[in-house]
Amino acid sequence: MRHISERELQLPDAVIGKLLGLAAEDKSIISLGPGEPDFETPKPLLQYLKSIISKNKKLRFTHYSPSEGRTDLREAIVKKLKRDNKINADIDNIIVTTGSQEAIFTTLLSTLDINEQVIIPNPGYLAYLPAIELSDAVPVDLELREEEGFEINPDRIKKLINKKTRGIIVNTPSNPTGTVLSKKLLEEIADIAVNNDLYIFSDEAYEKLIYDSKHISIGSFNGMKNYVITLQTFSKSYAMCGFRLGYAHGPRNVIDAMKKSIHYITLAAPTLSQLVGIKALSLPNKHIEKMRKEYDRRRRFIVKRLNEIGLRTLEPKGAFYAFSNIKDFNLKSSVFAKRLLNEAKVAVVPGTEFGRFGEGYIRFSYATDYKLIVKAMDRLEKFVKRLK
Ligand SMILES: Cc1ncc(COP(=O)(O)O)c(C=O)c1O
Repeated sequence: MRHISERELQLPDAVIGKLLGLAAEDKSIISLGPGEPDFETPKPLLQYLKSIISKNKKLRFTHYSPSEGRTDLREAIVKKLKRDNKINADIDNIIVTTGSQEAIFTTLLSTLDINEQVIIPNPGYLAYLPAIELSDAVPVDLELREEEGFEINPDRIKKLINKKTRGIIVNTPSNPTGTVLSKKLLEEIADIAVNNDLYIFSDEAYEKLIYDSKHISIGSFNGMKNYVITLQTFSKSYAMCGFRLGYAHGPRNVIDAMKKSIHYITLAAPTLSQLVGIKALSLPNKHIEKMRKEYDRRRRFIVKRLNEIGLRTLEPKGAFYAFSNIKDFNLKSSVFAKRLLNEAKVAVVPGTEFGRFGEGYIRFSYATDYKLIVKAMDRLEKFVKRLK
């Protein structure tokens, strides 16, 4: 057997990948597992893609782009950040990445030294922990509690800060809880960052998928320019996961450092995707609105059904996930998920995928056809009756 590095061996094995594989193999499984829009990329973007295929001479999409991304895309991002996020951006403070996953990884890689600490929400998006560990730094769990609406508790952050703390990851709207942080809470977090000289890594992957309020970018607050790295993506807002396109906005020296890492990791984000990205940023809002409204319809249905069935579920305010409490059933999250898959053919993600404080919870994604969600809830109901 050939040697595998300890670093690799220590990485968590994501259950989501296995679930996707199983659901693809067995057509009788209804998957409420993946965190990927079920919608097609909006038609005007696909039409645009078709129209440019014959224009390679002019657009040079079979060539590398600069590691920081095409200038025309970064100019479009400047406008978008000003228009939608109230971030007074400059082109030199923006870097284009291969999905926001690469932005998350390279921003951490570029700012952390060995054994420095980053405070991460737990339960939280599963890529934070490995990205910090691959940067030889240490993730520190910030417990999010159901009784606090899974919101960040500023006092709990303060207790976790020490000399080694370098930053805090903030994710609003949140995967997996659907929590949206208020302006007041974000201001408190911003104050903590300034008072302790910490970075804020602001993951805003679901910025356009908010149901009752408005998205607030912490990077838009006065005086936060040198503290916040804003991470955004085309994947969720424009149903463009497969294009692998994201970007970051932050202090110039951080962006320059990320550019160096990216040069050696992916070299640059796909040029063809960047061209479609420019088009996406000028897409009329009605295309996003159509998807958001459908997610909202599904959200209202699934939350009502889950609570009726006996899985206590707070109303998610953003993203496309319902995070349900299964503690009454006295089963570990992983066992509940496995049995639900085997006995009722419904795939979900155990809360422990999102950290140790996810034990006792299950994540349901409603980025799935409404009718399938209805069917999955009926199957869940029968399964739960058998458990009781
Ligand atoms: C919170 C969050 N951030 C970032 C990502 C990464 O998305 P992408 O790399 O497609 O931009 C995801 C994907 O599910 C996510 O849920």
